[in-house]
Amino acid sequence: MVAVNDIYLLRNIWYHAMPSADLKRGKMVAKTLLNEPILFGRTNQGKAFAIRDLCPHRAVPLSCGWYDGETVQCCYHGWRFDEHGKCAEIPSLMPEQEMDLSRFDVRSYEVKEVQGNLWVYIPDPDRTKAQPPRFDVPRVPGFGDEVAPNVTYTMRFPCYIDHAVVGLMDPAHSPFVHRSWWWRGGTLNDEIKWFDPSPYGFTMRRHQMPEHMGRGYWLIGGLPENEIIFYLPGVRTEETTTPKNRVVNLTTVTPLTDDQTDVTFQLYWDIPWGNLLKPILPTLIRSFLGQDRDVVIKQQEGLKHESVLRLIKDSDTLARWYYQLKKEYQRSQDESREFVTPVKTQLLKWRA
Ligand code: FES
Ligand SMILES: [Fe+2]
Repeated sequence: MVAVNDIYLLRNIWYHAMPSADLKRGKMVAKTLLNEPILFGRTNQGKAFAIRDLCPHRAVPLSCGWYDGETVQCCYHGWRFDEHGKCAEIPSLMPEQEMDLSRFDVRSYEVKEVQGNLWVYIPDPDRTKAQPPRFDVPRVPGFGDEVAPNVTYTMRFPCYIDHAVVGLMDPAHSPFVHRSWWWRGGTLNDEIKWFDPSPYGFTMRRHQMPEHMGRGYWLIGGLPENEIIFYLPGVRTEETTTPKNRVVNLTTVTPLTDDQTDVTFQLYWDIPWGNLLKPILPTLIRSFLGQDRDVVIKQQEGLKHESVLRLIKDSDTLARWYYQLKKEYQRSQDESREFVTPVKTQLLKWRA
């Protein structure tokens, strides 16, 4: 059983912030992530950055001001801050009024841009508990760092991050939630898969996909092999390969607040004619993710009256691992020790 009224968001970990393409040169984008106001920007030279979206003078959001590609200027008294959050100018000061501007620096966040995505490292807000990254941002397998996703789609789920993560990884909901003619029918099949621990998560071992798994796979050159990797805090890659082609889905889950969560679904492929699919994919992804979101919205209704979830063997094992991984990550930080994975290699069987 899992108590769901125990709400906490992992810190000292990388979160997906946005697709790189959403942040143009010389522009800024304000976002709330993990209840923190964050201002993302990209300098005229193309370097992405993130600072706290709050002027240290009188707390006006810096995003209400102006950005010229070099410094962000607050809209209230015009204080300026650079991409490191350093206070660069206080316009009201007379030339002879010397002041140590570094007293007014804004907190900055570490960012990383890989494979067309911007990631942000959210440290513990308590400086005594903040730690440097323990691991790098996850990579989409089989592609270099310079690629960008062919398709990207973000949908907001009005729920706490755990319900979005658990809903997306759940292996037993497909026949009931995803009833689309283009995906699969409502019949149940036996699923038997090996799972292994992997860094800060788990992996569904590479296997040949069975024929009933979907009607669209002939498009990428016959029955493919498939491998799924899950990473904390809520990142999943699903790699589908045939001898000729590779398609990888990257799904990231990022909490904005305790009850608003962004799910970003992206596809990377090396199929030469893949671009032909581009016009229809957003509609398909919206319909598919929308099914996951709609059932989570229904679940929110029930959760107003119930705070315990019952997780069964084997189909809820991935959900149990998620809760265990998350708890262990938090504990290992609280106790300043190495993370010890709770996941064991296991053969899981379920019907879906
Ligand atoms: S509140 Fe930002 S400059 Fe005064
Ligand atoms: Fe789903």
